[in-house]
Amino acid sequence: MEQFPNVFVMDHPLIQHKLTFLRDQSTGTKFFRELVSEIAMLMCYEATRDLPLVDVETVTPMEKTTTKVIAGRKLAFVPILRAGLGMVDGMLNMVPSAKVGHIGLYRDPKTHKPVEYYNKLPQDIEERDVIVLDPMLATGGSAVDAVTIIKRSHPKSIKFLCIIAAPEGIKALSEAHPDVHVYCAAVDRCLDSNCYILPGLGDAGDRIFGTL
Ligand code: PRP
Ligand code: URA
Repeated sequence: MEQFPNVFVMDHPLIQHKLTFLRDQSTGTKFFRELVSEIAMLMCYEATRDLPLVDVETVTPMEKTTTKVIAGRKLAFVPILRAGLGMVDGMLNMVPSAKVGHIGLYRDPKTHKPVEYYNKLPQDIEERDVIVLDPMLATGGSAVDAVTIIKRSHPKSIKFLCIIAAPEGIKALSEAHPDVHVYCAAVDRCLDSNCYILPGLGDAGDRIFGTL
């Protein structure tokens, strides 16, 4: 990934361990959903590493001291429906004050191109840093369109958080939106003839919602 300085692969052992169970075809819907949420929570930790801090005065039971809090930075999480929904709870566990927008996109089964069907973003998005959520970055079509849609509302910044990325998707997203930092847990080998990621984990939406 050296040619894409905007891409960060999170190789933390806890994330990698959970990802193995997520990929396993014998993992059922309940466990799959829990794993997506837990991985999102761990990834949120890393993706918010650059949030600025300010000093505040705190009185402990022992004395007055100077400590740190996040500097009034406002976040918005925007899952791409459906599969991105699986990551929202994990993210909100880490940042309960974040607002949540939604973008509905599905891939046309023949063309593999995204089709927009829903779009609701926080009204004050111009004051917010946005983290777009989708477990899968395959051709990159959905991510590119989602970021294009969000940019029309002029947020302060946009990051893209996925669990598995294909090299094709990273290239497409980085070329279309070089300003967007991409966080993923794994970069897989390639896409198959139906634009599914190999080895991947199959259809993320179907596995989260049990619609296989
Ligand atoms: C999946 C996935 C991404 C998209 C990735 O959604 O959650 O949104 O495909 O593929 P791409 O990078 O080639 O665009 P899908 O369209 O299957 O919809 P769903 O989440 O409603 O199942
Ligand atoms: N969407 C998925 O859910 N899985 C893939 O492998 C590709 C796109």
